[in-house]
Formats: sequence, structure tokens, C-alpha cells
Amino acid sequence: MNKRSVMDLDVRGKKVLVRVDFNVPVKDGDVTDDTRIRRALPTIRYLLKGGARPALISHLGRPKGEPDSKYAMDPTARRLEELLGAPVEKLDTAVGPEVEEALNESNGEGVVLLENSRFYPGETKNDPEFSEQLAAPFDLYVDDAFGAAHRAHATTVGVAELLPAAAGLLMQEELDNLDKVLLDPERPFVAILGGAKVSDKVAVIESLLEVADTLLIGGAMCFTFFKAQGYEVGKSLVEDDYLEEAKRLMAEAGERLVLPVDVVVAGEIEENAEARGTGVEEIPSDMTGLDVGPETVEKFRGYITEARTIFWNGPMGVFEIDAFAKGTEGVARAVAESEAISIVGGGDSVAAVRKLGLEDEMGFISTGGGASLEYVEGKELPGVAVLPNKEED
Ligand code: 3PG
Repeated sequence: MNKRSVMDLDVRGKKVLVRVDFNVPVKDGDVTDDTRIRRALPTIRYLLKGGARPALISHLGRPKGEPDSKYAMDPTARRLEELLGAPVEKLDTAVGPEVEEALNESNGEGVVLLENSRFYPGETKNDPEFSEQLAAPFDLYVDDAFGAAHRAHATTVGVAELLPAAAGLLMQEELDNLDKVLLDPERPFVAILGGAKVSDKVAVIESLLEVADTLLIGGAMCFTFFKAQGYEVGKSLVEDDYLEEAKRLMAEAGERLVLPVDVVVAGEIEENAEARGTGVEEIPSDMTGLDVGPETVEKFRGYITEARTIFWNGPMGVFEIDAFAKGTEGVARAVAESEAISIVGGGDSVAAVRKLGLEDEMGFISTGGGASLEYVEGKELPGVAVLPNKEED
């Protein structure tokens, strides 16, 4: 990464605004997946150790530009305090004199956590006035929110233009890992894509076809490809508007694009549904395809075992329901067992990896869903673009 790093800054005694991505799932007042909080700890600890006075800011959910208790940062503050092992002072505001006071009173042992940035209408509009208010109490800005870097908001872009800015350690790690895969992958490079819609993935398929040796496709989007090949797909999800696009991608990729050879079908998408396997050419007209089948898992495993680099985004089926989770589980295990450099991105595939307890077996788990896909698509992420390069003043 050629962006200026937090390590290049003199942080001692400085008030530092740190943009983190604490957009985490919360249920009944508790954080149910604290991965993103854990992953921000190295930067927070680095700043505390270096004598800085950090205040963290994040969005949570999609409140409508005004306070909404459902999306307050209190559960996150509690979890952060437990994980950090240091005091977290959570404020009910993100701007104004209270922030200034909290920073002046902080003794450098703990952190301040500001309220949800999306409680302010200026956040998603990247409003200059809101950015000014955010920046006012601070000396420096550190962006550690890779997961939100595809959003041009006040806390990811506006404020970075007003304060001396740098990338945090997680941001740096994310960019370094993705660059390793995209710019100079060890070969064979196998990309695995899942998820529901071809429409969401056309751009990323095209980009991956430029760098990957093989692209394995699972998830509901494979039914659009099957229909484009002339198969009967029953009640499976199909994007009819994308049949031509699917044909074009298959023609362009040739043998490098690998589709499932069998699928799991059921009459209903529910826990007790009677699920059964079938070849892709025999999907019954009254059934829905909800997972890839065992032969496909074996076929995909063959490619994954040979790979030296793996990028995986998107589950192979409806993994939240056990009857349709085996495809995703099989792929997750194969990636975990492989010796390749592996990157897993996207909320669903990461959730599947966590559910299986395989996080430690994966090379690198990206905290960015949309952000990692946009990066792979070759798009410039506004939250990254705004950060100065190493040599800039
Ligand atoms: C994410 O969870 O992908 C990021 O935090 C971005 O959230 P958003 O899609 O609500 O902007």
C-alpha cells in the first residue's frame, strides 16, 4: 500500500479521529458478531500506546439521518470495552463541545466512542459543514474503516480532506492482501463466487476473468447461467434480463468459468423441507435449486486443492438452513485445508466460515463486503482515494 500509514504520523499527545467500521449485527442489545470490533483493536492499541487521544466514529445500520435508539452505539461500546480491556467513554453525540470536553478529560488510557455518524443528515451527503464540525476538535484523522471505504460520506471522505490523514493498520492490511491477489497472484489463481444475483456480480466476474485462471460459480446466480444454456431450472431464481449477459460471459471465459454439475432442490425454502440432489439437466419444474450438490463440491475441491491463490465471495446456497448449507460448508472446508493464499470477503461467506469455526484456517478474512467487491472490480474506493500517498505532505 502506498498510502500514508498511521505509523508515519507523530501521534503523541494528538487528538485523533479514527473512522472504524463498527457496522456489526446487534440483537437484543448485544453485538452478535464482534469481528469488526476485534479487527480494529490493533490501530486503537497502537494509538493508545503512542500517547494519542483517540475518538472512534462509525455508522451502524441505515438510520435516516436522525437519532434512532435502535442504532445507537451503546452495545458496541460495551463490547469494545470488554475486548480492549480499557475504558470506553461513549458519547450521545458525534460533534460539538461534549466531544472537545471528553477529549480534554481523557487521560490517554481509554478511548472515546462517538455516536452513530448516520444520526446526522450530513453524513451520507458528505456535507462540508458537517465535516467541519466533525474535524473541529481533532489534530489528525485515521481511516481504519475498509468496510465503508466504498461510501463517499463525511466520515470517510469529507473529514479526510480537512485533517492530516492516514490509513489505519486494518485498512493497510486489507489493501495489501487484496493487492497481493489482484496484482501478482501465485498461480493457479482460483476465484469462487456465490450469491443470488448475476446482476450484482457481472463487473466482478469480468474483472476476475482478467486475473484468475479459473472462476467457480455457485449460489443462486448459477441458475441464470443454466437457463442461458437452455436447461429447465424449475422455480429457481433466474434473472431473465441477464440471460444474454450470462451467455456473453460464458463465451468470453470458455473453460475458465466452471458451473455446478449437480444441485440440491426442494419444494420450499424452509428448515424441514425435503431436499434432494439432482443433475443440472434434470431439475424438476416444481422445485427450486437452493444449493450446489456433492459432485459439484468434489469438482470445486479439485480446483481449490490445486490453487496457489484463492479469492472467495458469496455462499454456494442458502447456508442459513442446514439442508442447503452443505455446498458452502464443503467449499469452506476445502479453502481451509488448502495451502493457497486465500482471501474470503463478503458478509455471508464470512458468516458461513464463522459458523463452521474455520476463521483461523483461512488466509485472510476481509471485513469488507461491498468494499472488497468494488475493489476487485477495479473501482477506486473514495475512502481510499482521499488518503494521501506516502510521499505527499
Ligand atoms: C458494510 O457492512 O458493508 C459496510 O459497513 C457498509 O454499510 P452500508 O452498506 O450500510 O453503507
